[in-house]
Amino acid sequence: ADSRIKLLEEKIRTYPDFPKPGILFRDIFSVLADPRSFQVMIKLLEEKIQSLCPNVDVVMGLESRGFLLAAPLALALSKPLVPMRKKGKLPGKTKQVSYTLEYSTDTFEAQVDGIKPDQTVVIVDDLLATGGTMKAACDLVTSMGGKVALCIVVIELSDLKGCEEITAPFQSIVKY
Ligand code: PRP
Ligand code: HPA
Repeated sequence: ADSRIKLLEEKIRTYPDFPKPGILFRDIFSVLADPRSFQVMIKLLEEKIQSLCPNVDVVMGLESRGFLLAAPLALALSKPLVPMRKKGKLPGKTKQVSYTLEYSTDTFEAQVDGIKPDQTVVIVDDLLATGGTMKAACDLVTSMGGKVALCIVVIELSDLKGCEEITAPFQSIVKY
C-alpha cells in the first residue's frame, strides 16, 4: 500500500460524540494543520484525477470544507474552480437544487456561467457520509448541462453506504 495513505490515516483525528452522542467525527482539519500531510493529501487527489479523467474541464468544490481541497487542486490542475454553495450566497444567475436531509430539506446553488454545456466536472469534497451532498452536486452539474466525470472525497464513511447514492464514478482515499 501507499505509505502516503498511512500518513493521512494517522493525521485524521477522530472525536467520539461530536457533534452529538454516538457520532464518531472524522476531522480533516488535523491534516490541514500539518503542511506535509496537507500537501500529500492534495497530491493523492491530484494523481487520482490525472489518472481517471486527465482532460476534465472544471473542478467543483462543495461548501465549505470541500473548498479547502478544491482550491489547491484547481491550481495544481490549472482548471477553473466552481463553488457549490448553500442558497443565497452567490451573485448573478444561478441554478439551484434541493435535497432532503433526515429531517429537513436544503438548497444548494452554483453560478450558471461556471459550467458550459457538455463540459466535464470533477466534484471535490472532504467527506462522504450519507451521500446526500454529493448526489445534490451531481444533480446540479447535470441540470447545468455538464457531465460528472468523477466524484472524489478524502474520507468515505463506508457503513453509511453513501456511494450507493452516486451513479457517477466515485473515489475516496481513506475508508472507515
Ligand atoms: C459535511 C461534509 C460533506 C457532507 C457529507 O458538510 O463536509 O460536505 O457533510 O455528508 P452527506 O454525505 O451525508 O451529505 P457539512 O454539511 O457539515 O458542512 P461544512 O462543510 O460547511 O462543515
Ligand atoms: N466528520 C466530518 N464531517 C462529517 C462527518 C464526520 O464524521 N459525518 C458527517 N459529516
